[in-house]
Amino acid sequence: MTNKTARPAIAVSGLRKAFGDKVVLDGIDLTVAQGTIFSLLGANGAGKTTMVKILSTLLAATGGHAEVAGHDVASDPDSVRAAIGVTGQFSAVDNLLTGEENLRLMADLNHLSKADGRRKAAELLERLELTEAARKPVATYSGGMRRRLDLAMTLVGNPRLIFLDEPTTGLDPRSRRGMWRIVRELVDGGVTVFLTTQYLEEADELADRIAVLEGGRLVAQGTSEELKRRIPGGHVELRFDEPEIFRAAQRVLGRAAYRDGDAMSLRVGNDGSVRQLKALLDLLDSEAIEVEGLSVHTPDLDDVFLALTGDPDDKKVTAR
Ligand SMILES: Nc1ncnc2c1ncn2[C@@H]1O[C@H](COP(=O)(O)OP(=O)(O)O)[C@@H](O)[C@H]1O
Ligand SMILES: [Mg+2]
Repeated sequence: MTNKTARPAIAVSGLRKAFGDKVVLDGIDLTVAQGTIFSLLGANGAGKTTMVKILSTLLAATGGHAEVAGHDVASDPDSVRAAIGVTGQFSAVDNLLTGEENLRLMADLNHLSKADGRRKAAELLERLELTEAARKPVATYSGGMRRRLDLAMTLVGNPRLIFLDEPTTGLDPRSRRGMWRIVRELVDGGVTVFLTTQYLEEADELADRIAVLEGGRLVAQGTSEELKRRIPGGHVELRFDEPEIFRAAQRVLGRAAYRDGDAMSLRVGNDGSVRQLKALLDLLDSEAIEVEGLSVHTPDLDDVFLALTGDPDDKKVTAR
């Protein structure tokens, strides 16, 4: 539940970060309400990890202001650290120990008694579906299991605010869904989650609010519904069965179309009206371009991303 009168879990204004003369964050403003999932969406290299590091006090900002759990990250980093948990993009567990041993070690670090540590470890192993693997060395774990253990390590300290930096990158679809379920359960339990992702689908699926990070700035912010509403229409997907015809269509449609993945299909922005559809087909027809298949789509976040971030060719990787 979101408590609107409570102070935000995270409040950031005018945040800047440069490495030498390379500006990575160029004036970021955002607010995350308690008990919600906020997703920072951006391509590889957009600055997501930099943002997480600043908010979790691992890195100093160049300018601006950030408050996390009611404490200033610059002047009161210890209080921030006491309130948060951070699960990194790369697992920080000890490979030679078992999952259970890792968790008990973490419980010791959190000053839990032996009995409490045991109980906490067992509870988290159960919750993150690691009970069966509990006695096996982490070196034998799959990528998804390592991510879950990494999250379990974070949860030992009962943080009310958790940073998840690309928690599902590289995971297979099943492990990804498992992680999504766990994140939802955390939020149901009142935890606030700041999640970074390269996947529109993930942000759409999980987040109460989404911010799109691009070129050091937040180029859009809102609920996924709000972002979708910013786009006047959806798109038409055109499929071709011959490479020459596909290329001819690309030439004719130019920047109005962008390639959909690796397939011989093109996306063209379209409001779905018969008039626009007819104009598109007439244009292709006048150039004798044969369309193998056509489907009309209502707007999704890919369309939003396309509309917000300029040159679609650059963004294909992100948008997929
Ligand atoms: N310590 C550093 N020194 C110099 N450049 C860095 C450093 N850390 C990150 N960068 C650069 O900042 C940009 C953003 O990086 P990062 O925050 O890791 O992006 P993301 O997590 O979105 O992939 C990248 O261009 C990266 O090369
Ligand atoms: Mg990163």
